[in-house]
Amino acid sequence: AQNERDSLFIALKFAGEFFQDVLWNHSEGKSIGLSYFKERGFSEATIKKFDLGYSLDAWDGLMKPALEKGYSEEILEKAGLILKSENKTYDRFRGRVMFPIHNVGGKVIAFGARTLRKDKKQPKYINSPETGVYHKSDIVYGIHQARQAIRNEDLCYLVEGYTDVISMHQSGVRNVVSSSGTSLTKEQIRLIGRYTKNITVLYDGDAAGIKASFRGIDLILEHDLDVHAVVFPEGEDPDSFSRSMSSEAFQQFLKDNAQDFIRFKIGILANNISELSGEEKSEIIRQMIESLSMIKDEVKRSEYIRSTSEILKANESSILIEVNHKILTRL
Ligand code: CTP
Ligand code: MN
Ligand code: MN
Ligand code: MN
Ligand code: MN
Repeated sequence: AQNERDSLFIALKFAGEFFQDVLWNHSEGKSIGLSYFKERGFSEATIKKFDLGYSLDAWDGLMKPALEKGYSEEILEKAGLILKSENKTYDRFRGRVMFPIHNVGGKVIAFGARTLRKDKKQPKYINSPETGVYHKSDIVYGIHQARQAIRNEDLCYLVEGYTDVISMHQSGVRNVVSSSGTSLTKEQIRLIGRYTKNITVLYDGDAAGIKASFRGIDLILEHDLDVHAVVFPEGEDPDSFSRSMSSEAFQQFLKDNAQDFIRFKIGILANNISELSGEEKSEIIRQMIESLSMIKDEVKRSEYIRSTSEILKANESSILIEVNHKILTRL
């Protein structure tokens, strides 16, 4: 199947280049796709750096030139680029701005595609299906552009979306990847772990983002990486927030607001620690024990148990006993 993988890579490369050509050179691409990106505040350099493109609003915008170039319907379908029903074959991505997803080595393996319509009749993003070269749980968006910076900074920022990655690059923060809508997986954490043992989670400032960050934090701890998190103002994500200020101010915001997971979680669970009732405090301790019990390294675990007890003014040895109990019952 090495031949088939190669054919998929070649077809995906063709599609990526075609979508870019349409964005930069075709009237529909320029007037709709390129203006959309520019209105979002993406510079031409940024658009090029991420190989962004546009898919024509037609049934065969990509298929026609691809077939003319000699790509078979079979390969285009296996690459996730076209769809086949009983009586027709047509482009999967139509009239959307295109975000190519690259593997670590920089080959295009899939696409995310955003609608430009404001109505909610279609999903905001549609993405490539799983294919012979794309397993979405194994990859993070932006890893190819970020990996050197992640190594240099010994830190990886983890965001929710494509546009968060792109805007952060434009603000000068290049050590950033996105799990792109899927909830974070252990394979994605292992991939990041090849470059650094430090992750800072930057999820959207809404209920879904907080919920996802709690889950992500526990999974990261379980895989022996260090985790911090930043709370974004309600309704903001790293993309919108970074565009609302200078690069310097955004970078400073990240530095000033990254909290270890203990302070991050407690900060969200408790508005005012000194005013907690006994019952509220035990509920928070219970939720902290969930995370603490994920930490494999004993030295780190006991340090975090100590800081939890200090912040919550709770008894350290009873937390320790509960954590140990949780670990033992999980074995
Ligand atoms: N996503 C998806 N399918 C959807 C919605 C979201 O795959 N229907 C993924 C995309 O990777 C998206 C990420 O989840 O980038 C985060 O979703 P969301 O916060 O809703 O989108 P944004 O990235 O903020 O996109 P935009 O700023 O363009 O609205
Ligand atoms: Mn897989
Ligand atoms: Mn969101
Ligand atoms: Mn978002
Ligand atoms: Mn957004």
